[in-house]
Amino acid sequence: MKIAMVGSGYVGLVSGACFADFGHEVVCIDKDQDKIDRLHDGVMPIYEPGLAELVTSNVTAGRLAFTTLLQDGISGVDAIFIAVGTPSRRGDGHADLSYVYAVAQEIGQHLANDAVVVTKSTVPVGTGDEVERILRESGTTCRFSVVSNPEFLREGAAINDFKRPDRIVIGAEDEFGRDVMREVYRPLFLNESPILFTGRRTSELIKYAANAFLATKITFINEMADLCEKVGANVQDVSRGIGMDNRIGPKFLHAGPGYGGSCFPKDTLALLKTAEDYDSPTRIVEAVVTANENRKRAMGRKVLDALGGAESARGKKAAMLGLTFKPNTDDMRDSPAIAVAKTLTDVGVEVAAYDPEGMEIAAPLMPEVAMQDDPYAAIDGADVVVIVTEWDAFRALDLRRVKDLAKTPVLVDLRNIYHPDDVRGLGFEYISVGRS
Ligand SMILES: NC(=O)c1ccc[n+]([C@@H]2O[C@H](COP(=O)([O-])OP(=O)(O)OC[C@H]3O[C@@H](n4cnc5c(N)ncnc54)[C@H](O)[C@@H]3O)[C@@H](O)[C@H]2O)c1
Repeated sequence: MKIAMVGSGYVGLVSGACFADFGHEVVCIDKDQDKIDRLHDGVMPIYEPGLAELVTSNVTAGRLAFTTLLQDGISGVDAIFIAVGTPSRRGDGHADLSYVYAVAQEIGQHLANDAVVVTKSTVPVGTGDEVERILRESGTTCRFSVVSNPEFLREGAAINDFKRPDRIVIGAEDEFGRDVMREVYRPLFLNESPILFTGRRTSELIKYAANAFLATKITFINEMADLCEKVGANVQDVSRGIGMDNRIGPKFLHAGPGYGGSCFPKDTLALLKTAEDYDSPTRIVEAVVTANENRKRAMGRKVLDALGGAESARGKKAAMLGLTFKPNTDDMRDSPAIAVAKTLTDVGVEVAAYDPEGMEIAAPLMPEVAMQDDPYAAIDGADVVVIVTEWDAFRALDLRRVKDLAKTPVLVDLRNIYHPDDVRGLGFEYISVGRS
């Protein structure tokens, strides 16, 4: 099959490279000239483990190409995937669909053969209907079908998630759409990945429902963590104790500084807007959004408490280890680290930070933070060391060296990656999440 992928970011590039690896002929299109130039030079525009190798081998095999020209990229293809961003619209939290609709318009202008147009971007219910209207009104004489195929990959494990998904969801309204999508995903049928065919609107909603549910699970355990601290319980044991129940499951029950990233914050907000538009309140998701927003700053205040409160924190130094919203990505979108750093710098704490991949993107987002070349440089002279993101590099810190370098041995572990007894045994004051 011939496939065009419009938008070559975290989702488009990974999906395009994986489709090529299945044996399809893929063109990844992006309007960002710099991104496409880098890809032509074999340089990845994002950090994702295994991506460089996958892209290089498929380019070498002649199955993967890149262009900025949509008209060239979609010529003769069977399926055109739209994988552009759908950020929160400034001011109101609705998903900003301007990028999706701009691509639909451009496809309408240039479509020269029958093709299926697939929204892989996360889009609110009814977006497929609008894409279909745009294509119809473009006056194209080609046969087309608009299909929804939301993506569930996780950054940091994106290639494995794409190649071995828990499920593939396809929302199609006609046989043409279903037939082409069956061919596109045939290599995965052979792997026995379950495939769910639904209506287009249902498929669009599944993506939001999935993300809202996962965000709820995280927020639930975070609130349990707060309660654990008050009542003298251990949230990790609570997670294990409830996670062993098959009806609950163990995943997404790690207490921490709140969810961030490119999906949960904007998708929960967009779901609230859809619910509002259709006068069908989703009170649980409303509570999740508010609780998570408050939590990020609360984690900053936890660090201030470790410094003796906001007043005495002024002029002290904090070392932040980890800035990205989770490990194994350079994605800083809505990372809790931003709110934690802001809470500290707002009251005059000096913050030094280190992140293995995120510092280049983080620097302009947190101009008051001094980026350092390695964790120990950030820790040098610190009054408190804060683990914000659970990169493997921070799981085995040389704690004796940390203690020697820090001005005072105080460790705030917002990801619970250390064992309290081990750290306290070395003479640290150790504060974690939900473990009194
Ligand atoms: N990042 C994730 O982990 C993830 C997971 C599942 C779903 N999603 C969804 O996938 C979509 C894409 O997310 P992302 O993280 O890959 O975004 P991204 O910002 O990394 O990539 C989007 C790309 O689209 C390009 N683009 C925008 N307008 C274009 C146009 N008119 N023509 C060509 N290219 C254009 C941009 O230059 C950019 O490179 C979003 O809807 C997101 O919610 C993301």
